[in-house]
Amino acid sequence: MRQYKIAAIPGDGIGSEVIAAGVEALLACAARDAGFQLVFEHFDWGSERYKRTGAFMPPDGLARIRQHDAILFGSAGAPDVPDHITLWGLRLAICQPFDQYANVRPTRILPGITSPLRQVSGPELDWVIVRENSEGEYAGVGGRVHRGLPEEAATDVAMFTRAGIQRIMRFAFNLARSRPRKLLTVVTKSNAQRHGMVLWDEIALEVAREFPDVGWDKMLVDAMTMRMVLRPDSIDTVVATNLHADILSDLAAALAGSLGIAPTANLNPERSFPSMFEPIHGSAFDIMGKGIANPIGTFWSGVMLLEHLGERPAADRLMRAIERVTADKSLHTPDLGGPATTRAVTTAVCEALLGDNR
Ligand code: IPM
Ligand code: MG
Repeated sequence: MRQYKIAAIPGDGIGSEVIAAGVEALLACAARDAGFQLVFEHFDWGSERYKRTGAFMPPDGLARIRQHDAILFGSAGAPDVPDHITLWGLRLAICQPFDQYANVRPTRILPGITSPLRQVSGPELDWVIVRENSEGEYAGVGGRVHRGLPEEAATDVAMFTRAGIQRIMRFAFNLARSRPRKLLTVVTKSNAQRHGMVLWDEIALEVAREFPDVGWDKMLVDAMTMRMVLRPDSIDTVVATNLHADILSDLAAALAGSLGIAPTANLNPERSFPSMFEPIHGSAFDIMGKGIANPIGTFWSGVMLLEHLGERPAADRLMRAIERVTADKSLHTPDLGGPATTRAVTTAVCEALLGDNR
């Protein structure tokens, strides 16, 4: 039997609630399939550990998850730890050394869920956003001088490299090619940012020539927000820089009904390192411990994890179970305007998995 080792890192806030739910659903999925086994190892890395020991993960942390087949991550962020410390101490501390340069964010309107867009009933909005996940505005290049003095200054340099742009463009064109519409939108801001973003555009054009069967267009990021709202049906696959895609993917999640549903995969496509799967929503301290966190974002991330492992039938089965559950409004959590608890949604997804005869 195929066996996969998964590192579970719940992190902070509602992370522990949704990851417990996700592990339960993935185990139910493996039990239902019987062709493979998932072995979870749990890691207590997060802000509590940071406050106790001064580090989010132990010094040999990366080595301890290096051989795992995948990572299931909850969220990072606590009200009493500055956000940039958390981000760089945990999430980026895994994404960057493991070269998870392709961040993939599918967005669709699941059954039973209503988009805030009046003209959208469902099928008009079916997107995948590809976020460059290793450089750009998140490269960490910059500094701060004259601290506390009147002449204090700070810079964040957006770093774009030929190799970095080339690999994300190839990834995005390939992904667009694998989807029925074969359509890619390259998001840019090369009118204002005349160096890095111009290189981005030039390499998009070069790579596009390798994919003559994929239609593509280019869109300035500000205009892209309008197009997402006004012409959602004109979009299929999108590639954007680290920061642009961060912003666009929150808009996408809201247009699809709730941030609580949105999944993401941080992929190292070459599989030299494990890839990491996580819900987009973050730690949501305001609802922590109440048992009402929406586990769907984690379940959908679990679908992406199974796809990455090559367990396609199990991934499809989990997605069908999710869609059966979202179709029932009494199983919506409060972020979707419903009364359901994390427990109720998880139980319903596990039952739908067991009842699936396909
Ligand atoms: C995301 C999140 C993170 C980001 C936060 C938590 C730092 O918003 O994954 O989209 O900006 O990358
Ligand atoms: Mg974000």
